[in-house]
Amino acid sequence: MTNQKQVNELELKGENGKTIKLAVRQPVLGAPGMEISPLFSEFGMVAYDPGFASTASCESAITYLDGARGELLFRGYPIAQLAEHCSFLEVCFLLLHGELPNQAELEAFKRDLGREAVLEPSVRRVIESFPVESHPMAMLISAVAALAGVYHDSTDIHDPVARTRFANQAIAKMPIIAAAIHRHRTGQAIESPRSDLSYTQNFLHMTFGSPVADVSAQALDLLFVLHADHSQNASTSTVRLAGSSGTDPYAALAAGIASLWGPAHGGANEAVLRMLNEIGSADRIEHFVARAKDRNDPFRLMGFGHRVYKNYDPRAMIIRQMAHDLLQHLGSRDEPLFELAMQLESKALEDEYFVSHKLYPNVDFYSGVIYRALGIPVEMFTVMFAIARTVGWVTHWQEMIADPKLRIGRPRQLYIGAARREFVPLGQR
Ligand code: ACO
Repeated sequence: MTNQKQVNELELKGENGKTIKLAVRQPVLGAPGMEISPLFSEFGMVAYDPGFASTASCESAITYLDGARGELLFRGYPIAQLAEHCSFLEVCFLLLHGELPNQAELEAFKRDLGREAVLEPSVRRVIESFPVESHPMAMLISAVAALAGVYHDSTDIHDPVARTRFANQAIAKMPIIAAAIHRHRTGQAIESPRSDLSYTQNFLHMTFGSPVADVSAQALDLLFVLHADHSQNASTSTVRLAGSSGTDPYAALAAGIASLWGPAHGGANEAVLRMLNEIGSADRIEHFVARAKDRNDPFRLMGFGHRVYKNYDPRAMIIRQMAHDLLQHLGSRDEPLFELAMQLESKALEDEYFVSHKLYPNVDFYSGVIYRALGIPVEMFTVMFAIARTVGWVTHWQEMIADPKLRIGRPRQLYIGAARREFVPLGQR
């Protein structure tokens, strides 16, 4: 292991009487890791860990989060500092290259992205082949898979230059595809990107076909910063697992987007808004909080809880403040919805169930309120998340492919089906 020192050894006695020593290593930050690979070769035993509650699937130098302290670092920098001082493209550069860019590097990065900012005709046709009422995430998965059709033959994943080109392409194309999906769903002509606009201004211009207020583009830029990466979450792990077979990187990206769609992950932002609309008014909050606590009711407070954070998600804190400022600035009709969200939050946070389960608002509790104030339709919310997370996915994919220890991801299982039995021919069953 790199950048880690061995701090201990755990001695384990197997059922076969053998004893092995498992190394325990201390990474730069976070929980020590026990190397369990010898379990199978020495004991013929596997580790069982549903949902990967205690399993590290890889080493990574990109993002660190401390769930107990509510801390999130990108390449070592606290998220609050990046959110305050950096544009989304600076954060993209940081994630991709490990260091913040200087002015010349940032300009060169923008030019690289600008060169890739086109919508391929075949991808456009894929989008336009969908019925307009189709969910935009279904369109996005297909459009990104279609990029594999365009670039598969020219992308050598073993060539670092080709990998960088893929990363830049994906970041440049995602907002163009997302805006094209919105235009198709709303029966409007697809807008071309403009090289004179910033990344988020450009996306809003292609989406709405008209100039947008600077404050809207700035709010979106900040939301993108906050969503840019989050270590080994479900969609990133999906990109890594799919990519570990050596598949086309756009195919791996499409798999990650499919994972993001689910309501337990990126689909939560859409689900939060639907939930707030269903709650409707403050007097109904108690009823919904009671439902969330009822084991016999599948209802959960969407936008609440997180596998890793057992404290306030630092991103949610920033987004709540931003929602407040933005809605005031825009004089938005969405203020009552934001009020309702804040009341729901405070009711939940003083409830014994949420306190004892350490359930706090996550990144997507308030993001939907902002997307709506910006005029983004609710079905597009998870697409917005995908635009921002693309940099995280491609950075993790690059890190994985460049790792000399890369092996195909292939979990074991505990088989619980029928034991061996004899085949019975059709006529005798
Ligand atoms: N509302 C009510 N109870 C909850 C909630 C919630 N939102 N989240 C977790 N719990 C309860 C569970 O019922 C369980 O209770 P129990 O121990 O008494 O049975 C306990 O808290 C632990 O929950 P798990 O589901 O085991 O936690 P897990 O880490 O597997 O799930 C998840 C995390 C999926 C985020 C979950 O909290 C959830 O479904 N939240 C709502 C959806 C959501 O907001 N997802 C976005 C996550 S952030 C992101 O991906 C962008």
